[in-house]
Amino acid sequence: MRTALCSTFVVFVLAYTTTRVTANANPLSDETIKRINSVQKTWTAGRNFPAQTSMTYINNLAGTLYDDTLQDLQILKHHIDEIDQLPGSFDPRDRWTKCKSLNEIRDQGACASCWALAAVAAMTDRYCIFAEEKKQFHFSAEDLISCCETCGLGCVKGLHIAAWIYWTKLGLVSGGNYNSSEGCKPYNIPPGENYVTEELSPLGQIVDISSCMTFCDPSYNVVYRDDKRYGDRVYLIERNEIQIKLELFHNGPVEGVMEVYTDFLNYKHGVYNHTEGQSIGHHGVKIMGWGEEHGNKYWLVANSWGKDWGDDGFFKILRGVNHCGIEGSVVAGEPLIV
Ligand SMILES: *[C@@H]1O[C@H](CO)[C@@H](O)[C@H](O)[C@H]1NC(C)=O
Ligand SMILES: *[C@@H]1O[C@H](CO)[C@@H](O)[C@H](O)[C@H]1NC(C)=O
Repeated sequence: MRTALCSTFVVFVLAYTTTRVTANANPLSDETIKRINSVQKTWTAGRNFPAQTSMTYINNLAGTLYDDTLQDLQILKHHIDEIDQLPGSFDPRDRWTKCKSLNEIRDQGACASCWALAAVAAMTDRYCIFAEEKKQFHFSAEDLISCCETCGLGCVKGLHIAAWIYWTKLGLVSGGNYNSSEGCKPYNIPPGENYVTEELSPLGQIVDISSCMTFCDPSYNVVYRDDKRYGDRVYLIERNEIQIKLELFHNGPVEGVMEVYTDFLNYKHGVYNHTEGQSIGHHGVKIMGWGEEHGNKYWLVANSWGKDWGDDGFFKILRGVNHCGIEGSVVAGEPLIV
């Protein structure tokens, strides 16, 4: 239901490509990359993952579940007449320069936790933005993945909207990235490159999440409960380009979900336009801003596949056409600043 353009389009493309491409089914092969580049004018494909990367690992990259019942949440409506204030392009890193998390790219590793990483990344940005750039708080993905029972299955996919609701009800503690020793609960799963092939690591499979620990790392001298920060409210943004732009401009990054097709794995530069390949699932991402490149309108988005993926971890995707469903279930909220 949330996939207007992309899926209708894909039904045909799939039928076409499966007959044509089965001889070389590897979506990461040099041939695939070359073929995409021969078809596409708006974006460039390149090597992000070694060609022999296990499909188990690949399938973990898009780990967001979809649940219609959660769509009952309040829908925030901005005044449409504010549209005149909006610039032609917007990058929050130029506006809220002290919010360093806007430059950060998280890395989910071998865990289908994109739903959680995109959520805490946007919450972290928003904490700084709502604190008028005077305070920062790095929300812990680990806390959300291991403690939110209503969110789904931790490293085995989760619900992005439930993550935001959990934030308002039970709060989240701080936590840096893997090996950072920062905050109450740093991320426990090593970055992706350790897991590329099943030969290199038996953990080509999903990492088992730890149970919900209600104490902080010993190096962080704060009581778990005291470290929690909460969301004040959570809301959905209408599937509407202008509403999403107004929300980004006034309140900062949001979480969206897109359907990931295998061609996207090879994204390097430019404005992504789905070209070929099968769906590997829904993927939570942090939408940050917008712009236009060679006449193609795009959203600026942060991925959670590490800095080596794509355009230093970021990507651009067609804007205004609900491409791959990215405009269809945008969620955001306001933090309580303490
Ligand atoms: C994490 O830190 C430990 C100890 O400093 C080091 O041995 C290990 O290689 C680091 N792991 C990664 C993935 O950086
Ligand atoms: C997206 O790519 C398809 C071919 O795969 C092309 O027909 C279409 O015009 C492209 N869209 C844009 C906006 O460039």
